[in-house]
Amino acid sequence: LEAQPFFGLHQSGIVTAQPAAALYCAFDVLAERPIELERLLRIVTERLGFLTKGGEPPATNPQLPPRGSGILGPVVFPDNLTATLSVGASLFDYRFGLATRRPLHLGAMERFQNDALDPSRCHGDLMLQLCSNTAETNIHALRDVIKNTAGLAAVRWKIEGFLPPHIVKTMGADTVRNMLGFKDGTANLDARNAALMDRYVWVGPERGEPAWTVGGSYQVVRIIRTMVERWDRTPLAEQEAIIGRHKGSGAPLGQTHDREDPGYEADPDGQRISLAAHIRLANPRLPETRDNLILRRSYNYSQGISASGQLDMGLLFVCYQADLVAGFVTVQNRLSGEQLEEYIRPVGGGYFFALPGIPDAGRYLGQSLL
Ligand code: HEM
Repeated sequence: LEAQPFFGLHQSGIVTAQPAAALYCAFDVLAERPIELERLLRIVTERLGFLTKGGEPPATNPQLPPRGSGILGPVVFPDNLTATLSVGASLFDYRFGLATRRPLHLGAMERFQNDALDPSRCHGDLMLQLCSNTAETNIHALRDVIKNTAGLAAVRWKIEGFLPPHIVKTMGADTVRNMLGFKDGTANLDARNAALMDRYVWVGPERGEPAWTVGGSYQVVRIIRTMVERWDRTPLAEQEAIIGRHKGSGAPLGQTHDREDPGYEADPDGQRISLAAHIRLANPRLPETRDNLILRRSYNYSQGISASGQLDMGLLFVCYQADLVAGFVTVQNRLSGEQLEEYIRPVGGGYFFALPGIPDAGRYLGQSLL
C-alpha cells in the first residue's frame, strides 16, 4: 500500500509504473473568472496531495456529511495512487484570458478516418488521470475531488480501465495482453531511461513552447472499441499478419523472442512482416521516423454491451509525448487505413496537456500557467 510521490519536477502517473486500475475523468470548468479557476486548482491540488499520501480525515460533526465517502475505511491509505492533472484546449478560450498561453500543439482532438466519435465522450477543460491498485481507490479519490469542487467543475465524461493485477507494469519493460489477446507494450519506450524521457516525453525549454509548459507533456486519451466477436472468428494467421507479431510469444513474425528487432532492413518488401502490419506502420524504424516515438500507457476497458448485444470493450489508449504532432498525430496518420481498422473503432477521448509538477505544498498545479 505504497505512496507514490505527489511533488516533483514532473507529475507522477506518466513515467511511473502502471498499477492495475485506472480512471480517467474529464471535467468542464464552471468557474467563470480567473480567480475562481485559481481556487479550483488550489482545491484540487490540496485534495490530490492528501489522497496520494493518505491519512485520517479530520472528524466532523455527525450532523454534517462525513469528510470522505468512507470507501477506504476511516483511514485513507495511498494504495499506489497517482493523480495526474491535465488541461484541454477549451480552457484557453475567452473565459480566463489564457489564449496566448496555450501550448503550441494543443487543439481539440480531430476526427481521424476510422473514428466514430461520440461528443459526450470527448474533450474537456480538465482531465484527471487516477491510477492505483484498485478501482475503489480511484473512485474514492474521484468522489473526494467532485465533492470538494462543487460549483467550480462538473464531470463531463469518465472511463475506467484495468490491467492484470499481478503485475505493476513498467513501460518498456513489462508487457500484458490487450483485449485482442496480443502482448501490448513490447516495443514501448523504456520509461526508466531519463534521457529518453527528456527527449520524447517532457517538454523542455528548447521547444519554443510557452515557458510555463516546461516539465509537462502532451497527453492523448482515446477510447478505442475493439470488435472482439469478429476478431475471435478471425484465423490466427490473419490476426498475426494484421499486428505483425506472433500471438503466443509476442515475437515479430518469423522470430522467436518478443524483444527481437523486427529486422525491416532485411525485409524491405514486407514478405515476412507486411508493410501494412500495425507495428510496421506505427513505427517503421527509419531514420526519418525517429522523432515520432511516443510513450504508450494504455489500459484495457470493458463496460456493458452495445444496443445490438455486442461486448463494449477495447483499449483505453493513452500516450504521452513532448510534441503532439511529431508524436501521436503522425503515428495515427500513418496508421490510418490499416487493416486493423476493420476490428477497432475510436469512439471518444481528447488531447490534453499534463501540467508540470510542483515542488511542494506551497504551490498548486497550474500555478505557472495562471
Ligand atoms: C504496437 C495493438 C492502437 C501505436 C502494438 C502492438 C500491439 C498493438 C499488439 C505490438 C506490441 C507492442 O509493441 O506494444 C494495438 C491495438 C490498438 C492499438 C489493439 C487499438 C485498439 C494504437 C494506436 C497507436 C498505436 C492508436 C498510436 C497512434 C503503436 C506503436 C507500437 C504499437 C507505436 C510499437 C511499434 C513498434 O515500435 O514496433 N500495438 N494498438 N497503437 N502500437 Fe498499437
